[in-house]
Amino acid sequence: MMPRPPFLQLLAVLGLLLSLHACVHEPFWPDGSPIVPIDTGTTEPPDTTTEPPDTVVLPPDTLPGHPCDPDTVYFQRDVLPILVSNCAMSGCHDAATAQEGIVLTSFAQVMASGEVVPGNLDEGDLYEVITEDDPDKIMPPPPATPLTAEQIALIRGWIQQGAQDLSCDEGGGCDTSQVTYTGYIRPILQTYCTGCHSGSSPSGGIDLTTHAQVSAVAATGALYGAIAHETGYAAMPQGGDPLPACRIEQIAAWIRAGTPL
Ligand code: HEC
Repeated sequence: MMPRPPFLQLLAVLGLLLSLHACVHEPFWPDGSPIVPIDTGTTEPPDTTTEPPDTVVLPPDTLPGHPCDPDTVYFQRDVLPILVSNCAMSGCHDAATAQEGIVLTSFAQVMASGEVVPGNLDEGDLYEVITEDDPDKIMPPPPATPLTAEQIALIRGWIQQGAQDLSCDEGGGCDTSQVTYTGYIRPILQTYCTGCHSGSSPSGGIDLTTHAQVSAVAATGALYGAIAHETGYAAMPQGGDPLPACRIEQIAAWIRAGTPL
């Protein structure tokens, strides 16, 4: 067999580089000028230092090798933030108060409560109390805002799937390019914060349910200070783990952009 002539390999490499380049940027020849033939007289290796830089910064909070499955409910990503925000406030199911001996701030504590029976919605009380009609029995008790239908569905799915302690790699990097209140900030706050920061007596006197309210807190520096655990601010979410790094970056980007709706 004849070895392949090196210039053919070079052509293949150059062609690949050009096609990659064309995916990322403007059309390669935007003015329609004729394509200049590649000089195949040289066997110099292509200069790889001119490749376009990576624009995607991977957040450090991901777990490589466990891509998220859209049909799986992940305790750490989907369920724990809801419990911390809506059940583990001071005076309720935080570690210090432990109403009725129940603490809902970690997987181990949730399972130790005995209120969740894996795979069985009828046995454990946790699912029953969040779907209760009786205002004397429903959790969180009034005047706290009840869980939304989506939050209840996540908890139901998690129990039905065996109530495991699963995490996953959200992958795809951390998108901070177009962070809007409606698309990003409101869902983040609803997951992690408004269980405490809404209703008739919001924690710390801070209500985080409308764009105007959140923008006002952001303007004082307290929103970022609290989630970034800066000195001088109460660390949020209170009693829970810090937000994933990507969520903190997105909130910071939103504040820098002038808190767009
Ligand atoms: C479990 C209840 C709870 C959760 C969940 C919670 N907070 Fe708080 N938050 C509080 C309490 C209580 C205070 C008052 C604390 C204090 O003054 O020491 C407070 C205070 C604050 C403050 C004022 C901080 C300061 O030092 O001025 C901000 C801002 C804040 N929270 C934002 C958030 C955000 C954003 C989230 C979600 C990422 C969140 N909180 C989640 C209970 C909670």
